[in-house]
Amino acid sequence: MEKRFDEELKEATELAEQILKKHLPEETGEQRKVIEAMNYSLTAGGKRLRPVLLWETFRMCGGENQEVAGCFMAAIEMIHTYSLVHDDLPAMDNDCYRRGRETTWYVYGDAMGILAGDGLLNYAFETALKATKLCTEMRGITDNERLYQTERVCRALSVLAGKAGIYGMIGGQAADILAEGRGGTAGVEDGNAEELLLFIHGHKTAALIQAAMMVGAILAGASEEQIAKIEKCAYHIGIAFQIQDDILDVVGNSTELGKSTGSDALNQKQTYVTMKGVEQAKADVEAMSREAADILDGFEGEHGFLKDLILNLIDRRK
Ligand code: IPE
Ligand code: IPE
Ligand code: MG
Ligand code: MG
Ligand code: MG
Repeated sequence: MEKRFDEELKEATELAEQILKKHLPEETGEQRKVIEAMNYSLTAGGKRLRPVLLWETFRMCGGENQEVAGCFMAAIEMIHTYSLVHDDLPAMDNDCYRRGRETTWYVYGDAMGILAGDGLLNYAFETALKATKLCTEMRGITDNERLYQTERVCRALSVLAGKAGIYGMIGGQAADILAEGRGGTAGVEDGNAEELLLFIHGHKTAALIQAAMMVGAILAGASEEQIAKIEKCAYHIGIAFQIQDDILDVVGNSTELGKSTGSDALNQKQTYVTMKGVEQAKADVEAMSREAADILDGFEGEHGFLKDLILNLIDRRK
């Protein structure tokens, strides 16, 4: 069973990798330096969790068109990668090591680091928008069906934009930066420390995981009820994922993780570990992951691998 999961994960990751490669911008022209900086971080590896989640949710909900889903798989990885490139900047977490390499700003300088992030965010939408062209080119379907497909793509674009923006990831990153320096006592005085932390984790991390899974469901033509369930499921996955990230920043191995550890303490971040301690944090990762997996059981489509993936993330070491 474990062997089978490892193999399936390898295959899913390779598919995401292959699709991303197909959508990489070409390093040519006067702007090639910034494109090189974009590709430097995009091709550095990473778990490719978000495109894998998108694809598996798409399949669970009965989706078939890999080309259309592929545009969004590449796009979500570009947005996630931009969030990391900017997150590592000196003005933010000031980290020098990411995905087993020196960080983008460390190699290309702050200005190019900022522009590479901007470039990735914009190029993500240029890439996702390619799906509209694919819809117009679809043959052997009625005009109504084509309209329906195009509407799904537009709705997916809207979810992607919203979850990446001020009401999503950017909003969470801003709250994370503002809470910095308040250490483990942020908000304790006014009694809302946990609420604030859940806002931060729910936005900076869960939002993009929600985008990935919701886009998969929307493109596959899932019902409103199913999309709402997926949003909730992805919220739990996202919170668990960020708590585990906070744990690994304290107890993880930098070489294995491929990124710096101890960064949160250095930046006096408010994290789940500073608030609840490692043991409680671990218990909460497990509880939330199981809650997410239970939601998937309400789906008829094949979701064995997706469920195993969520449960395997509980003990992830990278
Ligand atoms: C790191 O994300 C940032 C967080 C949201 C915790 P990942 O752990 O998915 O990073 P990569 O994509 O594997 O490098
Ligand atoms: C950042 O959280 C989440 C993002 C939106 C990039 P962290 O700052 O904890 O992510 P890492 O630990 O640097 O990957
Ligand atoms: Mg950060
Ligand atoms: Mg960081
Ligand atoms: Mg972290």
